[in-house]
Amino acid sequence: MPYAIPRSLSVACLVLALAACQHSVRSERPLYDQVGGEAGVAAVVDGLLHRVHGDSRLNGLFETTDLEDLRRLVNEQLCEALGGPCVYSGRSMEDAHSGLAITDQEFDWFVEHLVAAMNHAGVQSKHQSAILAVLGPMRPQVVGQ
Ligand code: HEM
Repeated sequence: MPYAIPRSLSVACLVLALAACQHSVRSERPLYDQVGGEAGVAAVVDGLLHRVHGDSRLNGLFETTDLEDLRRLVNEQLCEALGGPCVYSGRSMEDAHSGLAITDQEFDWFVEHLVAAMNHAGVQSKHQSAILAVLGPMRPQVVGQ
């Protein structure tokens, strides 16, 4: 068998492949860190809430809301959802939005404000897409409750 690969070489290749794989997994930083950690998330949340509260199509929904509490909870939730070192301590999305009867249109306006806030905070478009992919699936838990 002139082309047989020596056993020791095969083992060496396998070890190298595993090491490379482990390295790529280790260098995959959480999205939370990639968007600037605590300060990066806070900039997005502040921009989002500021825009939502300035929008007369949406701000009536927040009339009785404790805004400081909301700010803290949205920061916590986004931090946890992006792989950061937080534990969300708020209500479920269904409970938090229960009785508000939020429509798909209102959800879309909210997302438009989120995108504007991310642009303003300088979040790269690949990270914006990843954040939207995390929040988008929450639509059915928010709309129509
Ligand atoms: C994926 C999108 C959304 C996320 C991640 C989110 C997240 C949250 C969180 C964490 C809270 C606080 C929960 C608690 O009090 O325990 C909250 C409350 C609230 N959210 Fe959202 N939300 C989303 C979409 C929306 C939309 C589209 C609207 C309206 C247009 C909205 C309106 C409200 C209001 C009015 C409250 C306060 C309710 C109260 O005062 O009891 N949210 N949301």
